[in-house]
Amino acid sequence: MRIAVCPGSFDPVTKGHIDIIRRAGMLFDHVIVLVSVNPDKQATFSVDERIDFIKRCTSGIHNITVDYNEGLLADYISKSKASVIVKGLRAMSDFESEFQMAITNKKLNSNAETVFLPAMEENMYLSSSQVRQIGRLGGDIRLFVPAEIEEEIQIKLQKGGAGK
Ligand code: PNS
Repeated sequence: MRIAVCPGSFDPVTKGHIDIIRRAGMLFDHVIVLVSVNPDKQATFSVDERIDFIKRCTSGIHNITVDYNEGLLADYISKSKASVIVKGLRAMSDFESEFQMAITNKKLNSNAETVFLPAMEENMYLSSSQVRQIGRLGGDIRLFVPAEIEEEIQIKLQKGGAGK
């Protein structure tokens, strides 16, 4: 059984993330969407909120589960039965940091292979930080986040629950 991990901050999950998760689900037997800690970012939404958003947006996909990891991704891969990391690649600007992470994860755990899926054109320039900024400033985030969670995200961002 081929198990893949889709790691990310998912703060919050976007239509771009869901597209990558859905496509990973078609390529692998099972996909673990892993809410992870990015030490360079201060999360706006709590871990529980981010997990709940992802679960609601992926409820129709039979081979997806959601988990949380506080530590290194390479260690999570060692402990789980997963061997593949799936990441979405948007514009060229993603390439350098994603390449660096892929090589580092492989150095930390020689079993951890990274596979990149190209973002669809409509998601090429979409990011969670954009969603947070647009929502916080009263803009319409419906284009960017799935309908199931749009209202809740909008309300929290408008209430000033949004960090950086
Ligand atoms: O959605 P993001 O913030 O771009 O995702 C980055 C993330 C969370 C996947 C990355 O920071 C990560 O893997 N964090 C876990 C800690 C870790 O393993 N760091 C070393 C990466 S080489």
